Amino acid sequence: PQRVKKLSAQNEFNYDESKVPAYELPDPLTMNDSTKVETGEQWMNQRRGEVLELFRDQVYGRRPETKYEVQFETTAELKDAFDGLATGRSMKAIVTIENRSFEFPFVVFTPNHTSGKTPAVIAINNRYVIPLEKAVAEADPFWPVKTMLQRGYAAATFYTSDVDPDNKNGYADGIRSFFADGQAPADDAWRSLSAWGWGASRVLDYLATVPSVDATRIAVVGHSRGGKAALWSAAEDSRFAAAYSNNSGCGGAALSRRTYGETVKRITTAFPHWFCANFTAYAGRESELPVDQHEAIALVAPRAVYVASADEDLWADPRGEYGSLVAAAPVFKLLGKESIHEQAMPAINQPRIAGQTGYHIRSGGHGLEQSDWNHFLDFLDNVL
Ligand code: GCU
Repeated sequence: PQRVKKLSAQNEFNYDESKVPAYELPDPLTMNDSTKVETGEQWMNQRRGEVLELFRDQVYGRRPETKYEVQFETTAELKDAFDGLATGRSMKAIVTIENRSFEFPFVVFTPNHTSGKTPAVIAINNRYVIPLEKAVAEADPFWPVKTMLQRGYAAATFYTSDVDPDNKNGYADGIRSFFADGQAPADDAWRSLSAWGWGASRVLDYLATVPSVDATRIAVVGHSRGGKAALWSAAEDSRFAAAYSNNSGCGGAALSRRTYGETVKRITTAFPHWFCANFTAYAGRESELPVDQHEAIALVAPRAVYVASADEDLWADPRGEYGSLVAAAPVFKLLGKESIHEQAMPAINQPRIAGQTGYHIRSGGHGLEQSDWNHFLDFLDNVL
């Protein structure tokens, strides 16, 4: 019943390609003062910082600069998970500022028998908390830990709401309020998407201390709201070697200017805790945004980006998700990297990989499924 209700509300939005307004995307390679960016160094040292600041200021908000410490504690261990394939650990990240602390749990599985260090995949999990035993006992396509281990990856995940509640009234219980010592968030301060991305960075901090993990080969992954957070996470933290943004739609991989499916107005109204206050001002005037989401992808360049859509998930605008990947290509090119640049989308269930970017559109609805993971891991095998 809930799905029916949600879909009927979504029906009021535009799904007609002929009604997508004519738009011009901001050029990532033009500086704020109109100078053209002509070299990779200019992008990395000058323009990239400008774009990052624009996104912080206008879309996701700014993370605090307050100094903090993080410690990690193992709360449970499973030495021979999956018949000896891996070791599972329930972990706790303890974030301290002066005499105050904030904790959030996460789960990590590392392969037991490896030659050399393994790459790792951190999933921003917007579904539920995963106890170790459950992860082993019940195969879950949303987080197929055994598949990752068998393919030689360490796998970690945490639940979004444990870092920052996914609830417009949940501020007081989250990491943002902890950093602000209970003060209300400033208009340009970070919101939940950025906070979840920050959580992924703390899990990376931990993985970087694990001797069997190669900290230079860690990917961040998320689905839907988690896919928005994964992209921004990799934009903010260059230690991520790759990002996978699945069915992430508005505020994720999809171009805002298309106003196809979910719009800035709808997303900032329904989820006011996801984006900074400035973003709400672009409701109904997306064409005035100083950035668009292809530039969020460009911020990850020359590192790897994988985007996936589902053909029935029109709310997330598959064309807009693919389009932003293509529109980021000039930045990859300037950095000497190949990436997807064909304007026409690939056929359903036919992944397209070119250098540092990859994409597929799966048949079916909104979701993160085993086939999505398989395609993504094929891509990751290539780029890492
Ligand atoms: C809602 C929301 C989307 C989001 C999705 C999800 O549909 O409008 O922006 O991606 O939830 O996280 O599943």
